Amino acid sequence: MASKLSMVVVLLFHVLLALKLEPSEARTWIKVGYWYSGSDFPMSGINSSLFTHLIYAFAAVNSSSYELSVSSSERSYYSTFTETVKKKNPSITTLLSIGGGDANYSVLSTLVSSYSHRNSFIQSSIKLARLNGFQGLDLCWVSANTSSDMSNLAILFQEWRVAVNSEAATNQLILTAAVHYSPDLEDSSFPIDSIKNNLDWVHVLGYDYYTPQRSKFTGAHAALYNPSSNANTDYGIKAWIRSGLSASKLVLGLPFYGYAWTLVNPSKDNSIGAPAIGPAITKGGALSYKYINGYIQKYGAGSDVVYNAAYVAKYCVIGSIWIGFDDAEIVRLKVSYAKEKGLLGYFVWQVSLDDNWSLSLAAAKEEESDHENRLRLLLIIFLPLSLTIMLIALGVCYLKRKLLKTNGTTSTSAPDNDAPHLQVFSFSNIQAATNNFSSENKLGEGGFGPVYKGKLNGGQENSSEKTLKIVHSRTSGV
Ligand SMILES: *[C@@H]1O[C@H](CO)[C@@H](O)[C@H](O)[C@H]1NC(C)=O
Ligand SMILES: *[C@@H]1O[C@H](CO)[C@@H](O)[C@H](O)[C@H]1NC(C)=O
Ligand SMILES: *[C@@H]1O[C@H](CO)[C@@H](O)[C@H](O)[C@H]1NC(C)=O
Ligand SMILES: *[C@@H]1O[C@H](CO)[C@@H](O)[C@H](O)[C@H]1NC(C)=O
Ligand SMILES: *[C@@H]1O[C@H](CO)[C@@H](O)[C@H](O)[C@H]1NC(C)=O
Repeated sequence: MASKLSMVVVLLFHVLLALKLEPSEARTWIKVGYWYSGSDFPMSGINSSLFTHLIYAFAAVNSSSYELSVSSSERSYYSTFTETVKKKNPSITTLLSIGGGDANYSVLSTLVSSYSHRNSFIQSSIKLARLNGFQGLDLCWVSANTSSDMSNLAILFQEWRVAVNSEAATNQLILTAAVHYSPDLEDSSFPIDSIKNNLDWVHVLGYDYYTPQRSKFTGAHAALYNPSSNANTDYGIKAWIRSGLSASKLVLGLPFYGYAWTLVNPSKDNSIGAPAIGPAITKGGALSYKYINGYIQKYGAGSDVVYNAAYVAKYCVIGSIWIGFDDAEIVRLKVSYAKEKGLLGYFVWQVSLDDNWSLSLAAAKEEESDHENRLRLLLIIFLPLSLTIMLIALGVCYLKRKLLKTNGTTSTSAPDNDAPHLQVFSFSNIQAATNNFSSENKLGEGGFGPVYKGKLNGGQENSSEKTLKIVHSRTSGV
């Protein structure tokens, strides 16, 4: 009897494993926020509790010494960042990002091409990080575009790793880089092996697929999917994984900004791909989520925000202005995509573009709700299932005893005889049954059905929006 029950317990444990519900499954999941020092948003205002990592952007490289250069006006920012953001969340990890969209291409290209330049860079980066309490370094060189840039980058990562490993035995600096949405560029591709061996993870820039300056048609600038082009996040993520980089080294980018186009003929064609004249509202058309929310409140009363499920993208049309952007719902869908694909986490560019933390909160909550769902699933399936199985086991045991008694045998059951009865609850049977359940549950999360319309609610007006320097980088594109 005891052996039977213990087998049932073992069996249930396997069921738990199959369901991936065991409580010990604490997969690492990171929530990264970039803070751009050029924004007028104070670092003390960052809601650190919504993130696991915060990145100071950006340190510049001195064009003659190839060391990191810190202007005197910025020195106090560097030295107080870590301390400041840890006040609201002591367990936050901080990184220093180097480069950025405005970094001088030829300076970085020259830097990576020579051993002595790389060495100056590496030594100064470690020194600056340690001096200011940063726990990691991030290279954001998004204009690297030749095969020699890429092979030199491979060497830089390798030398950086060696330097970081020898610098400290414990609490080694984290090394990361920002990369294009896909590893393959026009004439080159990112050095996968070196990334794999030397970096802790990469920040995948899943945005800027279309911009009003480059495209005379409205575009879903951060589409998760795209029925008519490879310029989409799902394509890029799959390309990274196919090239050999583990999904657990990929961190998905969420843009907290959108783009505004001026339509050619708003009443005739105002969907994704509609003819456009160029950028609207700002010079390049880039707008923070906060601004977009306020703008819709102010001018778009009654106008609809359209969700296109084929792209997983939203836009709204106000007069002749077409604005594509990610709201909390899109953010949730992308975070759940990142989890489904087994990525390491997500990063946001950048924290100050959010509207009262609503997008950061949506991203962080998606994580939590996922945990809650699993816990609920655990209770809903596991408890009744285990009770049922135990009852059946008891029943079988009882019947068997009765049978043995009527046969005149008095010996208690031998373990060998017990085994066949457990066939009823074979592992594969239960696995099949329960897997069925869990995939059903998964389906409910996505629901990428047909296009529907929804009214935007909430959001508040903010007229004094100045932070239009919001674009991380120009990356890929069409
Ligand atoms: C900061 O984030 C927490 C969730 O971690 C949230 O409860 C709180 O409202 C946020 N604070 C502000 C000022 O939005
Ligand atoms: C760059 O480094 C050189 C040599 O160390 C120094 O003279 C110069 O002032 C630095 N430039 C900046 C902008 O920090
Ligand atoms: C980039 O740096 C190089 C070398 O210092 C300089 O000659 C060039 O003008 C810079 N380019 C830009 C766009 O600033
Ligand atoms: C690489 O990018 C730089 C800066 O954006 C540009 O000047 C250069 O022409 C590009 N090179 C190639 C081969 O595309
Ligand atoms: C910001 O969000 C919090 C909840 O996260 C809410 O309590 C607060 O009223 C909001 N503030 C403004 C100014 O909308």
